[in-house]
Amino acid sequence: MSLFSGKKILLGISGGIAAYKTPMLVRAFIKQGAEVRVIMTPSSKDFVTPLTLATVSQNPVYSSFIAEDQDNPLWNNHVEMALWADYMLIAPATSNTISSMAQARCTNLLLAAYLSSQCEVFVAPAMDLDMYAHPANQKNEATLTEHGVVVLPTEEGFLASGLQGKGRMQEPEDIVSFMENHISKNLPLNGKKVVLTAGPTYEAIDPVRFIGNNSSGKMGFELAKRAAALGAEVILISGPSALDVDHANITVLRVNTADQMFEVSKLHYTDAAIFIASAAVADFKPDTNATQKIKKETGFSQINLIPTPDILAHLGAVKEKQFLVGFALETENELENAQGKLERKNLDAIVLNSLNDANAGFGGDQNKITYLQPNTKPIAFELKTKAAVAVDVFDQILLAYEKTS
Ligand code: C5P
Repeated sequence: MSLFSGKKILLGISGGIAAYKTPMLVRAFIKQGAEVRVIMTPSSKDFVTPLTLATVSQNPVYSSFIAEDQDNPLWNNHVEMALWADYMLIAPATSNTISSMAQARCTNLLLAAYLSSQCEVFVAPAMDLDMYAHPANQKNEATLTEHGVVVLPTEEGFLASGLQGKGRMQEPEDIVSFMENHISKNLPLNGKKVVLTAGPTYEAIDPVRFIGNNSSGKMGFELAKRAAALGAEVILISGPSALDVDHANITVLRVNTADQMFEVSKLHYTDAAIFIASAAVADFKPDTNATQKIKKETGFSQINLIPTPDILAHLGAVKEKQFLVGFALETENELENAQGKLERKNLDAIVLNSLNDANAGFGGDQNKITYLQPNTKPIAFELKTKAAVAVDVFDQILLAYEKTS
């Protein structure tokens, strides 16, 4: 899954010859799963048509403050467009646009949107070599950098003037990978290893029967996706689950039993920055595992159960620098029980999900959690999708983790 998957990108196009490459730029973002909206400066329309960009972006393209060709003119809301975006990119950015951005001029819709933006803004300059090198332009670019804008380097090469030199806009795919690298480098969990357990465990009675539970693994898989979106290298240790995930930074290691989950967890714990135990591990297993299927005719009247290893308790006991998070599923005295587990297992946080909440928990797509940490008031969240819960959990983890690391 790409970093741009599901992201909203506002592309601002200003009037340079490199504007002819912008439909390819839109395509490149869309190929990565992003949604793109385009704002053009009036002069950029001499180089590329709004129709082309509207067609490739599958969104209306705006270039003036007022909707054109209408008997009842409407205001094109630059604030709404700017706040919509996860990232804004101005490509090509002419000397004129860069200078206006640096000085907070607001003479067209693109500049107004830039000034209203709250997201990270990237600028891909494109101009002739002497314009690019001019101290006034260099100063404007430095001002933008000071303002937190990411100014992409230009390429050296053949320029529209016929001259050779520095000032060419980067190729569309290079712009996309530059942005990708920049964003991922600055993600809060970049370079960190996050390990999670998820799903149920199956404890064999014989080759076909087992003791298991109804855990789907959904919560753990959503947490893994969130960790990866925050830049982490993720190891997802999953018990039997129908789920799968396709992300370059997530390695899924499949196990069946609590013992196997324990072994794999220990292996990946040493260098983990964060470990989250969201698996519904069986607490007991049969003391024997018949090698052949037990015949109905033979019958068996009882299964002797012995405890499985408590993975989380072990990890808590040997904890060094890891941030260790457990899950608790309680039906009574929820807060007290969760609090007890937090202390007993030496955890940094515990996520309580209650079976008392309708529509939440096992198997479903939603969950309702309370987040507990040592010496802090529990934080209760509303019923949400598991994907949204994963965002809340990592928001809390990051708040505490950034203080300790
Ligand atoms: O004590 P209890 O089983 O309720 O604790 C639940 C938490 O402990 C969950 O985070 C679960 O993943 C973890 N756990 C474990 N190994 C076990 C049992 C539970 O890691 N054998």
